[in-house]
Amino acid sequence: MTRLPSHYRRIVLQRFAERFTDAIEIVDTPLALPKAGEILVRNHWAGVNGVFDDRLARNRVAYMPVTPPVDIGIECVGEVVAVGDGVDSLRVGDAVASTRLGNGYREYLCVPADDAIAIAEPSPEILTLIPTGISALVALEQVAQVRAGETIVISAAAGGLGHLLVQLARLKGAHVVALAGTEEKCAAVTQLGAHRVLNYRSEDLDTIFRREYPKGFDVAYDTVGGAIFDLFVEHVAIRGRVICSGYTADIEDPEVVSRTRIYTQLYWKSASVRGFMNPLFPEFHADAARRLLRMYADGQLRVLVDKGDFRGLEAVPRAIAHLLAGRNLGKVVLRLK
Ligand SMILES: NC(=O)c1ccc[n+]([C@@H]2O[C@H](COP(=O)([O-])OP(=O)(O)OC[C@H]3O[C@@H](n4cnc5c(N)ncnc54)[C@H](OP(=O)(O)O)[C@@H]3O)[C@@H](O)[C@H]2O)c1
Repeated sequence: MTRLPSHYRRIVLQRFAERFTDAIEIVDTPLALPKAGEILVRNHWAGVNGVFDDRLARNRVAYMPVTPPVDIGIECVGEVVAVGDGVDSLRVGDAVASTRLGNGYREYLCVPADDAIAIAEPSPEILTLIPTGISALVALEQVAQVRAGETIVISAAAGGLGHLLVQLARLKGAHVVALAGTEEKCAAVTQLGAHRVLNYRSEDLDTIFRREYPKGFDVAYDTVGGAIFDLFVEHVAIRGRVICSGYTADIEDPEVVSRTRIYTQLYWKSASVRGFMNPLFPEFHADAARRLLRMYADGQLRVLVDKGDFRGLEAVPRAIAHLLAGRNLGKVVLRLK
């Protein structure tokens, strides 16, 4: 049996502050054994959600109000090191994933066994699928309702969410137009099977869209916001759907509008703008996780894990800054083991 330490460390959001590092502390905590129905997990890797973490530290996540002190970090994978009475579904040595606020940025985690998802191994690749891949699949099916033969354009296509949107939309038979911000990112998305890849920092998207996609896009999936969102509204097809799934580039000043009201572009095309927020679709999560893990195991999905070397809880602020600067290619992960 693994020898357990007497203490472990976790990140606690102690107060709201403009700088993430001023808001958090790494807290040394006694390690307790799991109670009945619980498992104790040694976290190996955690996913980093830069926009969310940064905004939570500044008390700007309206849909998830928290009162400090509160544990942070969401998704993680690890190994079960102890089980409480009555737990039959998991054993010591099993690999599990979990996704809940407070689970991610800590070395050990005690959770109800029912909250954990059994996985083959606690690898960082799984963090691209759970919950980011879940977001991509649920959004495409439930909100974008993308169908075979449709055309979809995706912003930040080499990002954690974007690179899975590209592949899942392609698997559904859509024609995929992928936008990314560097040549290296464009090359990565091309390898994932996007039909047309554009560097949106150096190419004239409006001209290219008018020339190559005169009917517009059936689905325009955006997480960047600002000028990209405006362009997507302009180029949405008749009965098309613009998906608003984040606005990374517009996070500080979303109220500044430089365009005419968007109903002038939507009404006559019977097009719509639809918001997507994954936590609001809980009934689809378990099924999506199962299907994604199977698709990955069958080799239908490739995942991109960012190559940034972030080890230990001290590296979380650096990982967040890396993401906020848009330097990542794929999902940013934190090594905890
Ligand atoms: N609605 C949901 O349920 C849901 C779920 C997951 C994520 N999200 C949201 O989706 C977005 C992407 O999340 P993610 O974690 O997967 O991140 P990500 O896409 O891996 O990284 C963000 C990417 O956005 C692009 N970007 C464009 N303008 C940027 C700017 N001003 N600053 C930083 N990056 C910029 C960068 O790619 P380029 O270099 O290619 O521009 C960057 O790599 C976030 O806004 C997140 O909150 C929403």
